[in-house]
Amino acid sequence: MGVLKRYGAKLPVTDKTPSVNLEEGSTPLVRLDRIGEKLGVELWAKLEGCNPSGSFKDRGMVLAVAKALEDGARALVCASTGNTSASAAAYAAHVGVPCYVLLPSGKVALGKLAQALIYGAKVISIEGNFDRALDMAREAAEVRSFAMVNSVNPYRLIAQKTGAWEICESLGKAPDIHAIPVGNACNISAYWAGYRDARVWGNITSLPRMMGFQAEGASPLVTNKPCPDPETIATAIRIGNPVSAELAREAVRESGGEFNAVTDDEILNAQLILAKDGGIFAEPASCATLAGLIKLKESRKLPEGSTAVMILTGNGLKDPDTALSQVGKPIKIGSTLEELMEALV
Ligand code: F0G
Repeated sequence: MGVLKRYGAKLPVTDKTPSVNLEEGSTPLVRLDRIGEKLGVELWAKLEGCNPSGSFKDRGMVLAVAKALEDGARALVCASTGNTSASAAAYAAHVGVPCYVLLPSGKVALGKLAQALIYGAKVISIEGNFDRALDMAREAAEVRSFAMVNSVNPYRLIAQKTGAWEICESLGKAPDIHAIPVGNACNISAYWAGYRDARVWGNITSLPRMMGFQAEGASPLVTNKPCPDPETIATAIRIGNPVSAELAREAVRESGGEFNAVTDDEILNAQLILAKDGGIFAEPASCATLAGLIKLKESRKLPEGSTAVMILTGNGLKDPDTALSQVGKPIKIGSTLEELMEALV
């Protein structure tokens, strides 16, 4: 029924807030027994790729856009590694306001670029990485008085907490381990705040350990210093100076969790496992979660029999190029039954 309808009473929604709804949220929580057995845990995947624009960003964007409209915003602006721009562009189109998106040139997955363009956003490709694009977008928002819908916008984080609320409702408890990819570090911070809410409300009695996974080439929270030149195949999390670094550190510290880095090869391997042993196609950044859990298992840091939830933040279809680069080609045949029989081996 959409995040604002389902959780309006727990969000800063008033009589004056326009009702914006693309039926975001309420995403599936799927149990993955074949993969879970190998890890020795009860494994669940939260399929955030099932949101209307194909990523978790819609949860926070719906509130950010509703509040922007409430405040009379003329236009939206954001910087993005791809998903924020797809989401912002979708909601801007839905409510009928202009949207400007700044993208790091050549580093945005094909599907995400197609989304921003087809939703009718003005797409500006900058020479520089996401961190630079974010600085530029913030300045543009100020000069032009546009609504800034990156996660520096507090409403984004507030409404992203709904993911944690849903998990607690579905499981009837908090997981032991919460595995999540970390880029700008907002989602991990929002989930932690969401779990704490659920405990205050009495929906859960324990809190999960927050396990944040970054790509090795863009892992400022693991190395504890900004990364001036982030690089990874998981372009969604190709970020060197996370805006919510402090909140994320707090989440990990308070929950007894950890940040860990995974390599691009480990991410790609996890993507294949999720697809072939789970029937789930998630984009590379999302697969950092499974890559991370495998790593924890190998270093004996994954308690046997625990309940683990992975946040699969984006749909695999967003980045077909990366997926195709690691699988074979279709078998080509003519149109005879003989050829078909030969191919069916
Ligand atoms: N997974 C996906 C698929 C993402 O798109 C992002 C961030 C993250 C994980 C990391 O979440 O930033 O809250 O730590 N994407 C942003 C964007 C930066 O512009 O789409 P985070």
